[in-house]
Amino acid sequence: MERTRWYKDRVFYQIWPRSFMDGNGDGVGDLWGVLEKLDYIQSLGADGIWFSPLYPSPGADGGYDISDYLDIAPEYGGMEAFKQLLTEAHQRGMKVIMDLVINHTSDEHPWFEKSRRREEPYTDYYIWRPAKPGGKLPNNWDSNFEGKAWTYDDVRGEYYLHLFAVKQPDLNMDNPLVREEVKKILRFWLDMGVDGFREDVITFISKEEGLPDEKLPLPAGKGISHYNHGPHIHEYLSEFYRDVFSQYDCLTLAEAPMITPAKALEYIEEKPGNELDMVIQFETECADCLFTDWIPMKFSLRKLKSAFSRWQTTLDGKAWNMLYIENHDHPRIISRYGSEKFRTESGKMLAVSYLFQKGTPFIYQGQEIGMTNWRPDSPDKYKDVQTIWKYQNTALNQSDEKRLHRLWRSARDSARTPVQWSSEPHAGFSQGKPWTSVNKNYRRVNVAAQEKDSDSLLNFYRKAIALRKNLDVVKNGTYQEHEKSSSQHYIYSRETASQKLYVICSFAKKETKWKCPKGLDIEHSKLILQNYKETLPDRLKPYETRVYLMEQ
Ligand code: GLC
Ligand code: CA
Repeated sequence: MERTRWYKDRVFYQIWPRSFMDGNGDGVGDLWGVLEKLDYIQSLGADGIWFSPLYPSPGADGGYDISDYLDIAPEYGGMEAFKQLLTEAHQRGMKVIMDLVINHTSDEHPWFEKSRRREEPYTDYYIWRPAKPGGKLPNNWDSNFEGKAWTYDDVRGEYYLHLFAVKQPDLNMDNPLVREEVKKILRFWLDMGVDGFREDVITFISKEEGLPDEKLPLPAGKGISHYNHGPHIHEYLSEFYRDVFSQYDCLTLAEAPMITPAKALEYIEEKPGNELDMVIQFETECADCLFTDWIPMKFSLRKLKSAFSRWQTTLDGKAWNMLYIENHDHPRIISRYGSEKFRTESGKMLAVSYLFQKGTPFIYQGQEIGMTNWRPDSPDKYKDVQTIWKYQNTALNQSDEKRLHRLWRSARDSARTPVQWSSEPHAGFSQGKPWTSVNKNYRRVNVAAQEKDSDSLLNFYRKAIALRKNLDVVKNGTYQEHEKSSSQHYIYSRETASQKLYVICSFAKKETKWKCPKGLDIEHSKLILQNYKETLPDRLKPYETRVYLMEQ
């Protein structure tokens, strides 16, 4: 089957289903809610949807702990609602991709139930090890979410590996039967008409033989050097490609923690049979932290720019970038790289900072209206497994206030509150009581209010997306960064033989002096997008952004 790489012309919208829209009033977002809002998603100019997991799940990790890969959770509307959604999305010309979570399952998946009882052929579906002499754990790896990476199972009398929560045992991908199960899952959804997958922590699926102890002094993720890009990763991904993906014109988008652009090329370089199409890198999410949001640092624009530019230039002409600034795993971007005081201005600037780069942009629900971090008054309100563990186990000697601030700043929950549709009760998200709190600012920050305001962030996203779709230079132009050493401004240009685009973004919270860099001919260009009515020749206002177009 020919790979048309249709994803290059698309803009995706990411739905984290529990908090998007509740259609039946039980307080939990669902596909009926998504159906109600399809017109809205389309009105943004988005023509692709990525669904975070919709499968049946005990919910130990927001659905990333799956107990049945071949069904849709009843609370989300079941298979019937999903098929309707798929049909309606396709009728609108929209593509739909699913989340594929196969590094681990839920411990309530029948495979695990059988594996712990050593029922064939499931005995080796997971990574089981006896205790080491002296009752020690099989190795020194840490789980990414809660404590050690090993939990003892009484039924089996052995430890199982879990790189994430205790309720997320890792599958043993070295077992060919497990790889066959994966292919079955892939075919099931692709045959139904799904257009591809976002592949959860896919670079973790092959563990080094012998599971050696981590020797590197890592600030987080102890063990990662033995399971990220493991020994058989290319073999397994090629196998999935050969046996399944090559037969469908679909998209494969790989989540790849800690990956560099050079490493990414090993997976996504466009040649016949490339294993994957795009990667979700983390470097642009680490401009205010070290590896993880839980090791916060001061925001560094230079770090962000260098990451943006390295990805743009290293992949250019060889592979395709996935562009994003928010998803369900990080606090809200305005609260991090922008300013809540200049919420609309900085929201617009952040949109421009990435939407005019080369690649396929993704927008996370609520980002388009400038939702900001949730700040509950008590740690008890948090639901995410990672947040709860971090709260109970770190910074114990700090004051309660500091510890709460730490949650606000780092928790994934900060970006998982219900989408704010209106100023009605529960932000119009549900007729019932939402499963988690609504951000208190919903009366001020909501879709309905922004629909009415032509200057709103929402309408700005629509304009920016429409522009990027109509301009060949955004899709095809080369990328060049200017004023690289500036710690206040991010400036880049895009160029084809017939068009030049100049993108100016100020990350400063004050008005700053600015001189148009050499090589940017803004005098002969047209200002096509801006976030302040008036622009000054030698200054940029707080978080000002401008996009100029020159047709040559
Ligand atoms: C990925 C997902 C995240 C999940 C984790 C474990 O990083 O994006 O939400 O918790 O994998 O599946
Ligand atoms: Ca519901």
